[in-house]
Amino acid sequence: MSEINQVGMEKIVSLCRRRGFIFPSSEIYGGLSSCWDYGPLGVEIKRNVKEAWWRAMVQNRDDVVGLDTSILMHPNVWKASGHIDGFSDPLVDCKNCKLRWRADELKITVCPTCGGELTEPRQFNLMFKTFMGPVEDAANIVYLRPETAQGIFVNFQNVVNTTRKKLPFGIAQTGKSFRNEITTGNFIFRSREFEQMELEFFVIPGTDIKWHEYWRNERMNWYLKLGIKPENLHFREHAKDELAHYAKGCYDIEFLFPMGWAELEGIANRCDFDLTQHSKFSGKSLEYQDSESKEHIIPYVIEPSAGVDRSVLAFLCNAYYEEPDKEEIRVVLRLHPSLAPFKVTVLPLSRKENLVKLAKDIHTGLRECWMTGYDDSQSVGRRYRRQDEIGTPYCVTIDFDSLEDNQVTIRERDSMKQVRIPIRELQKTIGAKLAGESFEVLPPGGRCL
Ligand code: GAP
Repeated sequence: MSEINQVGMEKIVSLCRRRGFIFPSSEIYGGLSSCWDYGPLGVEIKRNVKEAWWRAMVQNRDDVVGLDTSILMHPNVWKASGHIDGFSDPLVDCKNCKLRWRADELKITVCPTCGGELTEPRQFNLMFKTFMGPVEDAANIVYLRPETAQGIFVNFQNVVNTTRKKLPFGIAQTGKSFRNEITTGNFIFRSREFEQMELEFFVIPGTDIKWHEYWRNERMNWYLKLGIKPENLHFREHAKDELAHYAKGCYDIEFLFPMGWAELEGIANRCDFDLTQHSKFSGKSLEYQDSESKEHIIPYVIEPSAGVDRSVLAFLCNAYYEEPDKEEIRVVLRLHPSLAPFKVTVLPLSRKENLVKLAKDIHTGLRECWMTGYDDSQSVGRRYRRQDEIGTPYCVTIDFDSLEDNQVTIRERDSMKQVRIPIRELQKTIGAKLAGESFEVLPPGGRCL
């Protein structure tokens, strides 16, 4: 983590708190360390990120299907996957101040806080445990899943049998995962409860290198298409000693966060490790029979695994701008329209009854297509600023002339340009704009995002 991005994390945290994107969990009780609640705007951007991922990974492809598996799974899943034995970090304690550190992250051999002597490293398992049923004993221990991937592997045969998918094909899932991380922090970058978006793409062994490269490119392009600046993204190939013992190769897509370059997504070639292990531990065959050669094989797996919360943070950092405007500083989130919490906000110039009626009618029409805002308090200038700050690409202003000429003003977030158009063309015009077209060229119909 060397170079420092221009926007400080404190600016992002403050904006998120102030405008209702993200709050500390259980805040009225003093908060719960490394857990976060998404507020009214945060929930929209988070949903939009997941939907954009689902559209790219499932909806627009013939070779991927979705799943939604349970968070609690049979404990043997975690024996087979290696999480019970191997999913741990080395911990050291300071003998003097009792603070606890991750040994692999310490660059010095004495406590960074007080200089005290440290204990020998001990392995600390990162899975959260709980009990299933009313008896709290060892026989009833279950774990909160630390990744969504295993729900996919254990359903491999169910999916093959019910969908008749042929290799190569993938299974995608988004959902919560839990890790009792020792070092958390950097806002939503590393928390103990988070969401993942994972694809397990099953391929014929021997074609895995080609598919690994394919998914690296797909995933990098996904972030670029959603507006992440190329200079804020790069690949980092895992060194041999970083690789899980079963993985043939792994690349991280890293983003230049305010604290430096850090992992946004990992894209791994997991070979046949997972299906082989589950087959061994469950006693069920997870082989795939090739319909032409009739050969039985265990497919290899390419896994692009992304964090929802990390992606939200990256999109926010990437979109944050402060620019001088007249005597003030304009804060603007230049979010891609498909990620913006509101696509359009309706602003009546005054609260006069006839103007409000027209504005509400217009709002009702627009919200059928898009997530919209409505704001009738304070000056229009201030209202534009508020919408800029939360990334709303377009505002529609209704003034007294609108009552006479049936026209309204559309104001663009990025250019601050304004155009006046007939109300009957509003939906079509905004649809065209959201789809990336200019005011001048309108397609025959609007498009919903
Ligand atoms: N199934 C593979 C897997 O889980 P991982 O690299 O441990 O791989 C994948 O996690 C992604 O999940 C990471 O790139 C990151 O975006 C996200 N992630 C992992 N741990 C996280 C945490 N504690 N807080 C937030 N996101 C996390």
